[in-house]
Amino acid sequence: PRVIYITRHGESEDNSTGRIGGDASLAPNGVCYAAALARFIDRRRSEFANEVEEQNQRLVHFMSGGASSENNSEPESTSSHESRNSSSARYSEFSSSVHKRVRPDFEIWTSMLKRTMETAEHFDPTRYRIKNIRSLNEIYAGKCEGMTYEEIARQYPDEFEARQLDKFYYRYPGIGGESYADVVLRLQQVIVELERIRHSVLLVTHRAMARTLLSYFMDIPTTHMPDMELPLHHVYACEPRPFGNFLRVWRYDP
Ligand code: G3H
Repeated sequence: PRVIYITRHGESEDNSTGRIGGDASLAPNGVCYAAALARFIDRRRSEFANEVEEQNQRLVHFMSGGASSENNSEPESTSSHESRNSSSARYSEFSSSVHKRVRPDFEIWTSMLKRTMETAEHFDPTRYRIKNIRSLNEIYAGKCEGMTYEEIARQYPDEFEARQLDKFYYRYPGIGGESYADVVLRLQQVIVELERIRHSVLLVTHRAMARTLLSYFMDIPTTHMPDMELPLHHVYACEPRPFGNFLRVWRYDP
């Protein structure tokens, strides 16, 4: 009944020059993605609201005895074979008609960095509750903030190699530098809250955060998680199903 959407921010000025970290604004391509994202989610949301409304109508109908009186008015079957078939048909209609009521609320959670807040700027704030959450900020690269990977390899070759060898536990040097393991801890409260609430959420966040969140919801081992390919301008949707989450991915085609 509810969906957790995850996307990275639109392309930023730093993405265009290959710099990590920092607090850059969106590049022109990123602004186009942001506008398209709001249209996409609006459309998904109204489809979902219609579905919920239909389910709620069915529930009201069922609770007021509508379904059983319909069944009573069905004509009697003539053979025992037909009777078995029609009773199983009625049973499956019951099970698919009745659905728990859900609130079609929708929240948008961004980090507190400009590139994610700008990506959420095209949503109508009267229709979406928008929250800016510091724990969704990108992994902090300490001394390497604002550098390209080539610069890091040249200036800090040992650090660069250590990260290649164990990306999950490697912690960036310098005050506040983080590892993926740190990020997992930092996201714990966000995940607890996501598990608690019943409505849909769009998380507009960063590559390391999207990897961590998706690996939690899709059970991806930490050995694979830091290397997951999650390109910009894609939307990932985790839909809860009885035996786990189902993942759908959409790519923005400008
Ligand atoms: O540092 C920022 C990046 O988005 C995280 O990517 O862990 O593959 O370097 P990385």
